[in-house]
This record gives sequence, C-alpha cells and structure tokens, in this order.
Amino acid sequence: MNVLEFQKMKDEGRKISMVTCYDYSSAQAVAESSIDCILVGDSLAMTMHGFPNTLSATTSMMALHTAAVARGARSKFIVADLPFLSYRKGLKEAMDSVHDLMSAGAHAVKLEGVHGHAEIVRHIVDSGVPVMGHLGLTPQSVHALGGMKIQARTNAAVKILASEARELEDVGCFALVLECVPAEAARQVTNLLKIPTIGIGAGPGVSGQVLVYQDMIGLNPGFKPKFLRTYANAFDIIQAALNAYDRDVKSGSFPSESETYYESRSVERSLAKESSSGGNAPVAESSRVSRVTVASEMNQ
Ligand code: KIV
Repeated sequence: MNVLEFQKMKDEGRKISMVTCYDYSSAQAVAESSIDCILVGDSLAMTMHGFPNTLSATTSMMALHTAAVARGARSKFIVADLPFLSYRKGLKEAMDSVHDLMSAGAHAVKLEGVHGHAEIVRHIVDSGVPVMGHLGLTPQSVHALGGMKIQARTNAAVKILASEARELEDVGCFALVLECVPAEAARQVTNLLKIPTIGIGAGPGVSGQVLVYQDMIGLNPGFKPKFLRTYANAFDIIQAALNAYDRDVKSGSFPSESETYYESRSVERSLAKESSSGGNAPVAESSRVSRVTVASEMNQ
C-alpha cells in the first residue's frame, strides 16, 4: 500500500484496515497479515509504557517504536503519531518532530485537531510528508474535553466536526481518523469529504477502521468499550503458557533430552580424560570448536 491507494480504496468502495503496532515482533505478525496499514499511535504511552493517557508520549519515544515497527514490517505503510504539543510549539519544532518520525521509517504522520495548526499541516504536506488528520475524540485534549467522551453528539457539534474535517482536507490531509463519534455524524463527514475516513468507535459508515493491537487481540482484558471487537484472548493464552513453563521448570521436566545440547563424542572423551586427570589436562582444541559450532547451530 502507498499513500495514493487510500484515495483509490475510498473511490472504489473498498474498506481500509489499519491496526496500531509498537514493537518489532508484533510488526512481524502484522507484516504477514492482510491488514492494509499500520499506525504507530501515541496510545503506546499507555499500552507499552503504562501511562494513564497519551500526554506522556514524546517524539523520541515515538521514533524509537516507529523504527522497531519499520524493521519488522518493511512492506507496510506506516503512519506515526506526532505526540502531545510537538506541533504546537512553532514550525521548527514541529518539523524537527516530523523529521525524526520520517527518519525512523514512517511514511506519513498523524496529528490531532486543526485549530491553530492548519498552516503547520499545510507546511508538512508541502514538504512532501503525507499527513493524516484526527478529529472527534482527540485524546491529547483529554483534559480540555473533560475526559474520554463520545464527541459530536449535537447538531452544532456535528457542524463543527464537518467544518474541521473540510479544513483538514483543504490543507492537504490524505485521510482522517474519526474517533468516538456517533455513526451518523461519521457517515455525514465521510460523504462530505473526498479523502477517506478511518473510524474507531465511529460506526460502519466510514472508509476504514483502526483498532489498537493490544485491545483487538485481548491483551488488555479490562478495556471493553462498546466499539471494540476482540479477536483473540491473548492475555489468557500468554498466562497459560507462562504458568505451564513455570510448572515444567519446577517439576524438572524442562528441559528434556531433546531440548539439551551435548558435546561431540571426541569432546566428551577429552573432558572425561580431563576430569580423570584432576582437571589439569589442556582443553582440547575440538572442545572450543564445538562450542562455537553449537552456538551457530542453536536450532538443531
Ligand atoms: O494512538 C492511537 O492509538 C490512535 C488511534 C486510537 C486512532 O490514535
């Protein structure tokens, strides 16, 4: 997928699938899937670092996770979030953040809202960097919004949402996330815009959907918002695996013979000789070779 395909998919009525991803091994799993694109979202401050909201994400944190994801999913289109306030401190600071995320391997950046930074969005786009907008519930404004609440619940609020969406399209965004808005509001905005909308908690009338990886595979069992569909029970599966490993270590059944490396016969003979001579015999050359060989043949 490349940036042009977002528009093509909307135009052809094909839904876009997006998932967040924050680390190398998860990226490898996403890379082998049919998911269209990846968001390295600032929700990683919560899912990967345990903060209560996204305000603690920094550009260096975002760049580190983006680089890991880019190494694990080389063929996927990666959007990275510009973190809290990074695009509200002036053009130079914003462009430094964009530069860090793009150098880390992102193909586009995402930012929340439009009031007061429309010109910055235009400058990023004019600099050759695709920008995804984000409206509705914008978690970086959690305190101004009075909490994580459904947005655009009145006609007046839907009008504001629509005019902000238009503004983001006008300044060059290639797509727009709509988070936690009623389905009808999301459908209206989607129909109003030429560019595609990616919904999370925005119903079916959008151009695509995004979910947080940990939420959709059930790694976050306490989090059950209405919009979330959980496709696996990863928390329980991992816990069962950990407890089984613990049991096997404590019972002595792990490692078994087949999970244990043995020296070659000639080395065993020389080690036996060494121990019968009180440990003073010179270490056989073949034993050094065999340790190297074992290290390079760990899978055998
Ligand atoms: O950071 C994030 O996970 C996001 C999605 C909720 C869209 O921005």
